[in-house]
This record gives sequence, C-alpha cells and structure tokens, in this order.
Amino acid sequence: MAVLLTGGAGYIGSHTSAELLGAGYNVVIADNFSNSTPETVRWIGQLAGRTPALCKVDLLERDGIDRVFTQYEIDSVIHFAGLKAVGQSVQAPLMYYHNNITGTLNLCEAMKKHNCKRIVFSSSATVYGTGTNVPFREDDPLSATNPYGWTKLMIEQILRDVWESDHEWSVALLRYFNPVGAHNSGLIGEVPRGVPNNLMPYIAQVATGKRPHLNVFGNDYHTPDGTGVRDYMHVLDLASGHIKALEYIKQNCGVEAVNLGTGRGTSVLEMVAAFEAVSGMRIPYVIQPRRPGDISICYADPTKAKVLLGWTAKRGLEEMCADLWNFAKNNL
Ligand code: NAD
Ligand code: UD1
Repeated sequence: MAVLLTGGAGYIGSHTSAELLGAGYNVVIADNFSNSTPETVRWIGQLAGRTPALCKVDLLERDGIDRVFTQYEIDSVIHFAGLKAVGQSVQAPLMYYHNNITGTLNLCEAMKKHNCKRIVFSSSATVYGTGTNVPFREDDPLSATNPYGWTKLMIEQILRDVWESDHEWSVALLRYFNPVGAHNSGLIGEVPRGVPNNLMPYIAQVATGKRPHLNVFGNDYHTPDGTGVRDYMHVLDLASGHIKALEYIKQNCGVEAVNLGTGRGTSVLEMVAAFEAVSGMRIPYVIQPRRPGDISICYADPTKAKVLLGWTAKRGLEEMCADLWNFAKNNL
C-alpha cells in the first residue's frame, strides 16, 4: 500500500515525501512540474535512501490521474497540488479556479472509483480572511479575499460534501500558517520562480545578492514594531504534521479542519533580525506602503493539532533561518 502525494515534488510536498519515506511509508508522487522539477525527486530519494515512485501527471487530465490509481495500490492521498500565488490568482482567476478546483474534482473522482477514501488536503490560514480575532481557531468564521483563497474554501466545502455523501470518507483539512526554511541537509528547499511573493524566500535572495534590499510592506500596523505579524513554522515540522494527520485519518472517519502553526507571532523586522543573526549577513530594507490584501496579525491557536493529532511544532526561528540560509547559499 502507498500514499499518493499530488504536488509531491513541490516545496512542502518534497519535505513531506522525505519524512514519509523515512518513516517507512511507500510514496507515489504525482506532479505536472508546473512549479517544480523532477530533480527534486532524485534528492528526496537520496535523502531517504529509497526512491519514491514518480508519475508525471496533470490533475486536469482525468485519465492520467485514474491510471495512477490503477498502477499503484493507494490507500490514502495527500493533496498538495495547486497554484498558490495570491497576486497571480487575482490576475488569472479562471486559471486558478480551473487548476485547483477541477484538479481536485478529478482526483476525488479517481479516488471514489478506486475506493480510496482517505485524504489530507493542503488548506491555508488564508481561509480566515480578514479576521482580526487572533489567535485563529478552527471554528472561527471563514472568508476569502482573492481567488486563491476562494479555491481553498471551496475545496474544503467539496471535501465536506463528499464526506456527507459517504461517511466512510476520512478527510483532514490542514490549515497551514507560514511554512519557511528548508531540509537540514541543504538538499531540498523552496526555489521560487521569478520574484518571490513571500517574505523568507525574498530575504534569502537579498542575502545571496540577487536582490538589493527587502521591501517591508507597511510599518504602521498595530503591532509592537508596526510591521505585519505572522506564524512562521519550519517546513519539516509541517511535514511531520502530515504524518500525524495520515495516522489520524487511518483510524477515524469524518472531516476535521486543523490549524498547523506554532501559536507564536513574529513581525517582519523580528524575522529580518533573526535571519541576520544566524547568517551573519546584513539584510537592508526599505519601508513601503502596506501590501493590498495583507492583514495585520495572523497566528494560530494550535491546540486542536495537539489534542487531536498529537502534533506540535518543535523548531524555533533560529533553526528556520539557519536551514533556509544553508539551502540558499548553496542553491540560489
Ligand atoms: P508548490 O508550488 O511548491 O507545490 C505545488 C506542486 O503542485 C508543484 O510541484 C506543482 O508543479 C504541482 N501542481 C500544480 N498544479 C498541478 C496540477 N494541475 N497537476 C499536477 N501537479 C500540479 O507549493 P507548496 O508551497 O509546496 O504548497 C503546497 C500546497 O500547500 C498548495 O496547495 C498551497 O496552496 C498550499 N499552501 C502553501 C502555503 C505556503 O506558504 N507554501 C501555505 C498554505 C497553503
Ligand atoms: C501569503 C499569502 C497567503 C498565503 C500565505 C502562506 C499574500 C497576500 N498572502 O501570506 O494567502 O496563505 O502567504 O503562503 O500573498 N512581507 C514584506 N515584504 C515582502 C514579502 C512579505 O514585508 O517582500 C511581509 C508581508 O506584508 C507580511 C509578512 O511579510 O506581513 C509575511 O508575508 P508572506 O510571506 O507573503 O505571507 P502572508 O502575508 O502571511
């Protein structure tokens, strides 16, 4: 029996693949490499001492994903595959809805046909919309402010409805906060195409000399230093959260939304200082206006993850920055 990782060659999927292989799982990766490369899969194999099965498949091709289930005995799925750039989703909403929603529908059809009823879905803290009631809890009101966010909300609903129609399904909706860092081997990490949207990949590119300075989006928020506060977590902690979720859905049917975050908020300038301290590099920055759509403070209440899954994030800011820097200086 194997676990299928859609989008398993991507940033979070690759780290999760390595952890799953290390924990003894058989892994099948299905990816169309729209935002990743097959080379990453070779590194995963090297890290784990065992190569995952790899299928170059686009979830938009129904027959392709169906064939994966025919070829391998898959008993559960972790569904990472999707487009994730918020700004691009505003520019190209149809592409985002088509890729993320149709891809998920095709995946669920294939799962249903092959009697595979366990799925862990990559949702996001973005489903809390413009909420101000931090820390965010799973039963807080949900909303979205851009097409990317809507796809996450819609997919959560689709999976809830699938379960309503058949209570043998088991669904974990994992709401990630801000995954950062890289594998401690330095072999795999995040390699954004073009200009990074997110803070830590941008800082890494400033540190390696690819960009002259960081633009800090706003210093007039109601936060201790005026810059935005987020819940940064090490990508390897996030990967281990997926193993816990997988173990949980193997034992329990139902639908559970679970926050994966540390429960601690860190400001942009605190993150810059942490990175500078670990790397010894200076990160010059320029204060810019607020980025449209950004909220002031976002961090998780991670209690449910602890109680339900037995998961807590273990690694601190220093380790996140050290592993990012170790990867960046060799790869970017
Ligand atoms: P990523 O872009 O690195 O990985 C996604 C992978 O999916 C890529 O390898 C891409 O090639 C693949 N893919 C996309 N569309 C596909 C399709 N139609 N068929 C097959 N493969 C396809 O992104 P990531 O950071 O690893 O994120 C993984 C998931 O987690 C995404 O769904 C993302 O929305 C979600 N998420 C990410 C973050 C974050 O900060 N990185 C936060 C919250 C949620
Ligand atoms: C972004 C996405 C969100 C997604 C999340 C996790 C946007 C608007 N939101 O959120 O939907 O769920 O990533 O992937 O893209 N910052 C700077 N300079 C930069 C980049 C960021 O100052 O160059 C600031 C931001 O204003 C924010 C913080 O750094 O305060 C973190 O930003 P980012 O890494 O983009 O994550 P989120 O805003 O949490």
